[in-house]
Amino acid sequence: MNLTLKVWRQSGPKDAGRMVTYRVEDVSPDMSFLEMLDVLNERLIVEGDDPIAFDHDCREGICGMCGMVINGVPHGEQRATTTCQLHMRHFEDGAVITIEPWRAAPFPVVKDLVVDRSSFDRIIQAGGFVSVPAGSAPDAHSVPVRKEDADDAFDAATCIGCGACVAACPNGSASLFTAAKITHLSLLPQGQPERLTRAKAMVEQMDAEGFGGCTNTGECTAVCPKGISLDTIAQMNSDYLKANAK
Ligand code: FES
Repeated sequence: MNLTLKVWRQSGPKDAGRMVTYRVEDVSPDMSFLEMLDVLNERLIVEGDDPIAFDHDCREGICGMCGMVINGVPHGEQRATTTCQLHMRHFEDGAVITIEPWRAAPFPVVKDLVVDRSSFDRIIQAGGFVSVPAGSAPDAHSVPVRKEDADDAFDAATCIGCGACVAACPNGSASLFTAAKITHLSLLPQGQPERLTRAKAMVEQMDAEGFGGCTNTGECTAVCPKGISLDTIAQMNSDYLKANAK
């Protein structure tokens, strides 16, 4: 496959940035998207150019590092797929592909396709944990949990914190991420003692970071590589309202 890439290049946070066009030839359809970028970077290094900076770690769809907007869609148009799990066979030979970083004020660009997502870390630090003594792991059947609650908690816990939800949202809202992190704890017995204080603290931190509000457009869940449900946002809003009513 031969491709034309239009890639966002930005040397640092203060640089204005621009799109730069590259030709990439003899790309195997079996390559992942990141492997295709690796090949381009090896060539840029040989030619004495600055390689394209992009984040990655596991390359298995579990760490959430590999965020980039491909042809206008966070992680590309393949549903429920992270960029590292996206393969070149999903593109046409001769395709023109645009690649940009997440664009949201609370995710400032560090370089090229790399953004600073420490705002997500601070939301977790505000309450995304269980701090009450929960003891050692009990026998599996000693704490009854409804099957539906266990399933919903597990589904919410699959959020990898990649930030695609923010990048897709016209409001730049982090509601889906924050709601997933609140919901996976609030549905389980260990999460109950701090349930309302957790929801209040995390929502307020989300607002303080400058993320926008949720207006139920649903773009977030459409691009989420883990398919996190909008139901988690309803759960978050319910807990947040109860916390304020108290
Ligand atoms: S590199 Fe870890 S999810 Fe893509």
